[in-house]
Amino acid sequence: MSISTLGIVGSGIMGSGIAECAALNGCDVVLRSRSQSTADATLAGLEKSLAKQVDKGRLEGADRDAALARVTATSDLSALAECDLVIESVVEDLAVKKHTFHELDRECKEHTILATNTSTLPVVELAMETGRPDKVCGVHFFNPAPLMSLVEIVRPLTSSDETIEAARDFAASCGKTPVVVKDQAGFVVNALLFPYLNNAVRMLEAGVASKDDIDSAMKGGCGFPMGPFALLDLVGLDTSLAILDALYNEFRDPNYAAVPLLRRMVAAEQLGRKSGHGFYDYRH
Ligand SMILES: NC(=O)c1ccc[n+]([C@@H]2O[C@H](COP(=O)([O-])OP(=O)(O)OC[C@H]3O[C@@H](n4cnc5c(N)ncnc54)[C@H](O)[C@@H]3O)[C@@H](O)[C@H]2O)c1
Repeated sequence: MSISTLGIVGSGIMGSGIAECAALNGCDVVLRSRSQSTADATLAGLEKSLAKQVDKGRLEGADRDAALARVTATSDLSALAECDLVIESVVEDLAVKKHTFHELDRECKEHTILATNTSTLPVVELAMETGRPDKVCGVHFFNPAPLMSLVEIVRPLTSSDETIEAARDFAASCGKTPVVVKDQAGFVVNALLFPYLNNAVRMLEAGVASKDDIDSAMKGGCGFPMGPFALLDLVGLDTSLAILDALYNEFRDPNYAAVPLLRRMVAAEQLGRKSGHGFYDYRH
């Protein structure tokens, strides 16, 4: 089955990034936000992001116009009814995602594959909210979606081979490298990445070095493109905390137990780039 129309639910960092990837690669996109004002703002953000690429000479003006013409932004969930694939990318909260899957199952046509962009949560629990568990899988993009080449295709116990194949083909059609992984918290990347990020916060709390020096050390010493605190700010501290909580919940490994400072910063709404302030300040 080939995917020519993609639906996306949730227009935050990831939902808008996935929309950009898919539209640039020739897919029609219906992006659903909770309100029409957010939908309009997301579309304006997409225009700005594509304009930047044209300015940098990475994209032709005509390709930008064609990509924008493929995207519809709406607050109406029923606009997703005819999509071949819908990727849910709402907040990393199991109850919210379950509710979203329940609604998507009601609204979407029988042939629609329902996928989640969750970083850690059990995909099978979302599948079981629907009457089509064989047509549910994870399609996990990385941040920033237009730039990162990996997509983890998450296979829950209930998924059919056809669904996994269609999801893989879709990721490849977006110019990505798909990797099929088991439905286990954190899949491959986050299960390995988050103990490192969490331990960096622990190291900061212990006063081993300043955040700038820890970031410089990991860039200079390991060749990483950014240090752990810049990465936590990019991911979002709320999303990072939800990821660690889900990992800890599944494995009870102390490396996944979120460091108190991270939890306190989320309580203080210091969420990173998206709130303008996290480990670093982005307000100027
Ligand atoms: N941030 C990352 O680096 C990253 C990377 C890969 C996957 N993900 C996953 O993508 C998903 C979205 O993350 P994000 O970084 O885009 O987050 P975000 O905070 O930027 O966006 C979250 C979206 O969820 C919506 N939302 C919030 N509460 C809701 C509710 N109660 N009902 C319906 N919608 C609600 C918001 O309006 C927003 O559109 C999460 O599952 C996250 O784990 C995030």
